[in-house]
Amino acid sequence: MDRFLWLLAGAAALLLAASSPAMAGGGDGHVEVGVNWGSQLSHPLMPSSVVKMLKGNGITRVKMFDADPWPVGALVDSGIEVMLGIPNDMLETMSSSYGHAQDWVKENVTAYGNKLKLKYVAVGNEPFLKAYNGSFMKTTFPALKNVQKALDEAGVGKSVKAVVPLNADVYVSPDDKPSSGAFRPDINGLMTDMVKFLHDHGAPFVVNIYPFLSLYQSDDFPFEFAFFNGGRNIQDKGGVSYSNVFDANYDTLVNALKKAGVPNLKVIVGEAGWPTDGDKNANLKLARRFYDGLLKKLSKDEGTPIRPGKMEVYLFGLFDEDMKSIAPGNFERHWGIFTYDGKPKFPIDLTGQGHDKLLSPVDDVEYLPHQWCVFDDGAKDKSSLPGNIQYACASGDCTALGYGCSCNGLDEKSNISYAFNMYFQMQDQDVRACDFNGLAKITDKNASTRGCLFPIQIISAGGRLATPPLPVWAAFLALAVMLFL
Ligand SMILES: *[C@@H]1O[C@H](CO)[C@@H](O)[C@H](O)[C@H]1NC(C)=O
Ligand SMILES: *[C@@H]1O[C@H](CO)[C@@H](O)[C@H](O)[C@H]1NC(C)=O
Ligand SMILES: *[C@@H]1O[C@H](CO)[C@@H](O)[C@H](O)[C@H]1NC(C)=O
Ligand SMILES: *[C@@H]1O[C@H](CO)[C@@H](O)[C@H](O)[C@H]1NC(C)=O
Repeated sequence: MDRFLWLLAGAAALLLAASSPAMAGGGDGHVEVGVNWGSQLSHPLMPSSVVKMLKGNGITRVKMFDADPWPVGALVDSGIEVMLGIPNDMLETMSSSYGHAQDWVKENVTAYGNKLKLKYVAVGNEPFLKAYNGSFMKTTFPALKNVQKALDEAGVGKSVKAVVPLNADVYVSPDDKPSSGAFRPDINGLMTDMVKFLHDHGAPFVVNIYPFLSLYQSDDFPFEFAFFNGGRNIQDKGGVSYSNVFDANYDTLVNALKKAGVPNLKVIVGEAGWPTDGDKNANLKLARRFYDGLLKKLSKDEGTPIRPGKMEVYLFGLFDEDMKSIAPGNFERHWGIFTYDGKPKFPIDLTGQGHDKLLSPVDDVEYLPHQWCVFDDGAKDKSSLPGNIQYACASGDCTALGYGCSCNGLDEKSNISYAFNMYFQMQDQDVRACDFNGLAKITDKNASTRGCLFPIQIISAGGRLATPPLPVWAAFLALAVMLFL
């Protein structure tokens, strides 16, 4: 997305700030919004309770990153439309032999019969991301072909389409104008072949669009342009103007598709959302503003300036996921519109009417005991503190402690307590996980402070822990390594 800076909002563009994109279609006030249901949580919620919550909130579409039979089983007979996923690490296998694709379809599609309302199979997830250095360049398209062929031969190819969710960094615009949109030069040939294939098989193009990342990646990005309230307009050819980066980005893709010879290929936004912690621009207020604007826009069926009409969008994501990699940034674990324990974070009106109401939470969530692990200031030997903090943060989650984040205001001692507690909770409050060479103690006094929640974990419905609790010798080892290397 580094080219999507949209910095050319000069004086001329600003003059047009009052105009808005043409309305088309006239919405029916009903948004059929989808959500991404990820699985990288140390303590997953019971899938049946999640599905009940989805239905209760009128969420009719779900996108997943794999085909884990546990949550998928809960979606059977739910009436919710599903997109299953084949992770990037399976692309090699899927491309190398058609038999593997057949097996996948047999086990993860046809086994459910027509009880699962399956619509799409996502082959890979953002496989051409620049950060992957081309690792999936050779395998993605062959895998896509094998999976679609397997779906066709299993007799479900008419209703189930294989797609490839891609990051918006597969297309570029040399002058930041949507009309100049084209596929990235290094993958232009591959993308052109792939979109033709999608077109020939009646499958859509799935793209992930993140105005938050545009803002995150450049301090010069015009702030207002990340939202949907106007205030900053970009002029394009033929009198077309853009009041937000979401539309501008989407239309850059539409123009790239035109150049590739498939001007009418359907586009689905596979991910769109705003995180609530882990960065100075990731908070409840801005997330609420983004979703409010997005959902109002969707409810009007206005589409974009060059693609008016209904838009299909999957919000990212459902829950905060404490085991996501934070390589892209600390905000990665805070994308949920619900907290880790299934509570709505902020008012969000999925009908796009902007009503100030909260979604209903996940029911029947059970918590671990009300106890916290905190720093024991009375401990005599504090020499192993740095190593222990580092360990707690590396194996737990300290993403709320950084600059501009919800727990940034803590003093040094509370900071340490926060790190210790997150690790302790992630380890199911195992007493061995609140030792840290005698530097920690368990308390039943709520350690939260104003604005900074010291969470109590839930009783995991699935139980898959990141790492076993830290034995004392390991902390010594970590410290020794730190000191002597
Ligand atoms: C079906 O999907 C699951 C979950 O993603 C995966 O682990 C499994 O390998 C798939 N089955 C086959 C036969 O590929
Ligand atoms: C991509 O290359 C960079 C620099 O060469 C390297 O740091 C990174 O680990 C590589 N990433 C992957 C996924 O191979
Ligand atoms: C608290 O921890 C964060 C993250 O490790 C660090 O950036 C910050 O400086 C710490 N604050 C204090 C007061 O020690
Ligand atoms: C601890 O206090 C925080 C903030 O004061 C509150 O939100 C949270 O629910 C409390 N936790 C428990 C388990 O009582």
